[in-house]
Amino acid sequence: MNVIVVKNAEEISKVAYEKMVKAFEGKAEFTLGLATGGSPLGIYELFRIHKPEVSNVITVNLDEYVGLAEDDQTSYHTYMAEQLFNHLNFKENHLPNGNTKNLEEACKNYEELLQKHPVDLQLLGIGENGHIAFNEPGTPFDTPTHIVELTESTRNANKIYFENEEDVPTHAVTMGIGSIMRAKEIILVASGIKKAEAVKEMLNGKLDINCPATALQNHNNVTIVVDEEAYSLC
Ligand code: GLP
Repeated sequence: MNVIVVKNAEEISKVAYEKMVKAFEGKAEFTLGLATGGSPLGIYELFRIHKPEVSNVITVNLDEYVGLAEDDQTSYHTYMAEQLFNHLNFKENHLPNGNTKNLEEACKNYEELLQKHPVDLQLLGIGENGHIAFNEPGTPFDTPTHIVELTESTRNANKIYFENEEDVPTHAVTMGIGSIMRAKEIILVASGIKKAEAVKEMLNGKLDINCPATALQNHNNVTIVVDEEAYSLC
């Protein structure tokens, strides 16, 4: 894995943004995998400021909570609309459907979409417990898009986005590790001391389903962009 260590979150965003734009500019069509959470916010801000040409770019997001309406303030549909999709004219934008009675079918449909539009570049964050997308510890490395029960640690980390702790959904639909690994290129961003343990495991730990991010050791085109704090245990 290619590792780039920079000073702070602002610099991570700059490096990741520039790599992403360079990857899709001038391409006839490009599928860009996007992530949510706090880590990509600075990257999306740069998209809003610089407004690169994205009419050739199809976006596919990693995950969505189960049971939230698309226009719910806390859904990832709303997050993406506010951060990015309302500001730039992408060719298409896709997220998994977490608000349906037939979640199995929603997973199948999303996998079909990913087969039709193989991801050229996937942006990832990392959870404090080493999860990628919503693939919690214990997820086999070959899983396709699936339904997950969120761990206490993940619900706890994400409760800042909700008014009440009990509003944090218990389940999500997420691209699987198998789906993520099919991306031709991956950029993972992580900042701050809270991510240091997970970053250390991802880079130096044994391949282990208890740290989903270790799966990335098997990918041949991954760049990890971290700040000094996140890298401090390596
Ligand atoms: C969330 C998301 C992930 C994200 C991770 C880290 O649960 N499902 O896609 O990468 O946790 O989030 P943050 O960037 O807010 O630390």
